Amino acid sequence: MCGIIGVTGASEPLRIILEGLEMLEYRGYDSAGFALVRIDGSGLWRERAAVRAQSLPELHKVATPPPGAALGAGIGHTRWATHGAPTEPNAHPHLDCGDRVAVVHNGIIENHRELASELEERGHSRSSETDTEVIAHLVEEQLADGASLDEAVRFLLGRLRGDFALALVEAKDPDTIIGTRRTSPLIAGRSDGVGLLASDISAVLGTTRELYAIEDDQVVVVRPGSITAYDRDGTEVALRPLEVSWEVQAARADGFDDFMSKEIHEQPRALADTLLGRFRSDGAIDFEELSLGPHELRRIDRVVLLGCGTSYHAGLVGRSALEAWAKLPASAEIASEFRYREPVIDDRTLVIATSQSGETVDTFHALREAKRRGAMTLVVTNVVDSLMAREADGVLYTRAGPEVGVASTKCHVAQIALLQLFALDLASLRGTLADADVSRLSGEIAHLPEAVSAAVGRFAEYELVAERLAGVNDVYFLGRGTGLPIALEGALKLKELAYVRAEAYPAGEMKHGPISLIVPGTVAVVVATRGPLYEKIHANVAEVRARGASVLAVCDEEDSTTPDLVDDVLRIPSVPEVLTPVVGVVPLQALAYAAARARGNDVDRPRNLAKVVTVE
Ligand code: F6R
Repeated sequence: MCGIIGVTGASEPLRIILEGLEMLEYRGYDSAGFALVRIDGSGLWRERAAVRAQSLPELHKVATPPPGAALGAGIGHTRWATHGAPTEPNAHPHLDCGDRVAVVHNGIIENHRELASELEERGHSRSSETDTEVIAHLVEEQLADGASLDEAVRFLLGRLRGDFALALVEAKDPDTIIGTRRTSPLIAGRSDGVGLLASDISAVLGTTRELYAIEDDQVVVVRPGSITAYDRDGTEVALRPLEVSWEVQAARADGFDDFMSKEIHEQPRALADTLLGRFRSDGAIDFEELSLGPHELRRIDRVVLLGCGTSYHAGLVGRSALEAWAKLPASAEIASEFRYREPVIDDRTLVIATSQSGETVDTFHALREAKRRGAMTLVVTNVVDSLMAREADGVLYTRAGPEVGVASTKCHVAQIALLQLFALDLASLRGTLADADVSRLSGEIAHLPEAVSAAVGRFAEYELVAERLAGVNDVYFLGRGTGLPIALEGALKLKELAYVRAEAYPAGEMKHGPISLIVPGTVAVVVATRGPLYEKIHANVAEVRARGASVLAVCDEEDSTTPDLVDDVLRIPSVPEVLTPVVGVVPLQALAYAAARARGNDVDRPRNLAKVVTVE
């Protein structure tokens, strides 16, 4: 969940590192740091700062190069703390005993305790509580035995257990950065005499678009303008170029107060781009990039949708569409739980992992487990060539552009639309829906960007309703059927951004226990979709209001009944009920956004969170 950048051959390496770290900050903001090699051979210059959500501004304050120091290769890091508190001594880069080697790391070294005690016995002293520091000391020993830095890193691959991406520099070599990875992401890039390493494309887009994938257990040697990759045996291997469609501007806040509001406002475009080219002129659905062919898809007799957090909620919507349209047994599963069960799946099961980042380690390992058990696998992700995209048999890309705000917004609506469209495609393939119904539903999905645009246009109106949440510390989100994933998503957003206890519950289930928590003054947000459960949800509204709750309802603009039954409404444009989740989450994003800002919270850097969750 940390961000890594490395640069060599640049005239202003410090600037490139600091700008890269700005782009990587969303991956973790507990601390930040860099180390650069001084060209005169006088050693490494390292600075670090650890001030929660303010580490980068603090790092800028101390980033004044020592007088007269010409700087060569350098590495930088933004941290989301796992091993060791978010303090300066635990901030990366970490050094060996002799300050000859600096390392930055993303991931977890699972056997770090065992390695640390070995190293201690051999006389090394540690200056942090991190799992990372063992790497610097292991490399130190190899260098002392005469190995080069890349040989030392190759040796590490046999000693380290866990998931990691690493970048290292050595004090005596101002030209070279060495990188390696296992599961955690790392890419390399070059342009005009500059060489780069980064955990994420957006960190280097300001410098180059010539980017290359680094595969698991490869070691890359990055020098000014050159990148060479080796396998574990030291044999040179070809580099695989990466196609980059994102623009650097897309990863900047561009006049909005923060990334979250920018991304909420980008939802209509994100959806339109996701749907672009997916419909043929004859009305059929076109998933050009999908490598799973009709023959394979026809064999499916069951679907399991995996995801975490917001992506899991998208999976819940996908499940209903698969059941209703493709008539397939489907279940949506929380990836971190699924992996450790004994799931009954076989080669006729399609496992769909939904992940904005394509990197979430819980989802990745659950996907891998499904594959190991013989399932056919498909990934719905926003990040081209991400870990999961590489792992799965097929991939469908949401084309929402980079999402930087920690709380997923535009990718979520894109995920839902894509999963629904895929369900429709399967229904057409399996003949479970009449052609006329498939074309009608596709047409309705194609119009979703307009509906989302209308919902986003009501943002200020939603923010006003959010004032009702001032001083409120417990909120219930209730929904049924189509409304339940919307309620779950609304509660998650309010928790993570406003730090308000928010519980989402199937409204019909309240009477089986939780209703005893409703007392006068409790706030309930009820999602009232106009489908088969419309009257039932009204009954549930009456039940909580009878016990003193005040109710805010999400309802569509043609709904003339719900507003009379509740205290306030969040109106959404009318769309067919089954497609409500794409539109219905918008007011709840606004509610959480406004409640968080009213409490003075940083919406882009919520407490304890990071955008990409690469630890279990
Ligand atoms: C919440 C949120 C998270 C992510 C979750 C999975 O707003 O964004 O719950 O949805 O961490 O991330 P991805 O989709 O990258 O697998």
